[in-house]
Amino acid sequence: MKPGMSLMKHYLQFKDFRAEEYAYLFERVRTIKQRFKNYERYQPLVDRTLAMIFEKASTRTRVSFEAGMYQMGGSVVHLTSGDSQFGRDEPIEDAARVISRMVDLVMIRTYEHAKIERFAAHSRVPVINGLTNEYHPCQILADLYTYIEQRGSIAGKVVAWVGDGNNMANTWLQAADILGFTLHVSTPGGYEINMDLVGVSNPACLKTFKSPFAACEGAHLVTTDVWTSMGFEAENAVRKKAFADWCVDTQMMQLAQDDALFMHCLPAHRGEEVAADVIDGPQSVVWDEAENRLHVQKALMEYLLLGRIG
Ligand code: CP
Ligand code: NVA
Repeated sequence: MKPGMSLMKHYLQFKDFRAEEYAYLFERVRTIKQRFKNYERYQPLVDRTLAMIFEKASTRTRVSFEAGMYQMGGSVVHLTSGDSQFGRDEPIEDAARVISRMVDLVMIRTYEHAKIERFAAHSRVPVINGLTNEYHPCQILADLYTYIEQRGSIAGKVVAWVGDGNNMANTWLQAADILGFTLHVSTPGGYEINMDLVGVSNPACLKTFKSPFAACEGAHLVTTDVWTSMGFEAENAVRKKAFADWCVDTQMMQLAQDDALFMHCLPAHRGEEVAADVIDGPQSVVWDEAENRLHVQKALMEYLLLGRIG
């Protein structure tokens, strides 16, 4: 951290940043993405190291953080539970003290959110949430940027969430609260968002619906996620039955705005939470959404390590 910079920040939940910080970040993403597309070298993180700790599987998160850090001139250390002491019960506080003396930034994908909070509380360097059971803020950052890039401001718009009240849904709700849009949520009974956990300041940003069709009516963006998130595999058979009617299909998309977008954080299961003709159809922006993980996380790492540029 440069002398004179404000206090170190972590990015563990969407609500860790204010609306005004997101406005700054989205502007930086635009610049950083444009430079990348123009093959312009931009290496503000030379000699900086990112440690990535994965206790769950990943494709997009790993590739986007690793490629992003190298593109910005830095380097990466990749750890998993299987090849480090993480899987052998070293206290997380000790791991945080040690790792954060050796690197400049840490990204963690793990199970309980409490674990990343304990790591952050003992870390000398910023910690980024690469997904916990409760939140996935880097993904929502990419989803929001994708919406803004294609349709402009998301303030005042309606986002329909169809499916599990999971880490993605929780994070969408925090985003709706902070950025001023409405989240329509339809989940099967027993899989609702835990409002106490998410902690919104404006309850009007959430509208719940029994019917997933009703949730999609008038939406500017329809989005969903797997029926069974990582860590919940033992519930797979029960969930398959409970979620059978929560499949985003063309009928749901027709109830949304004519120019509504479809997003999915991926990996997707065609024929379960989304019909193939929706995810592979003209309203789907899932490949831009996945690519934007790279660009938003580069802006995020720059912000956490260097503060505001210019
Ligand atoms: N969307 C997402 O986080 O993908 P991975 O699990 O592949 O990282
Ligand atoms: N909700 C999913 C997201 C995967 C990127 C999970 O936690 O497995």
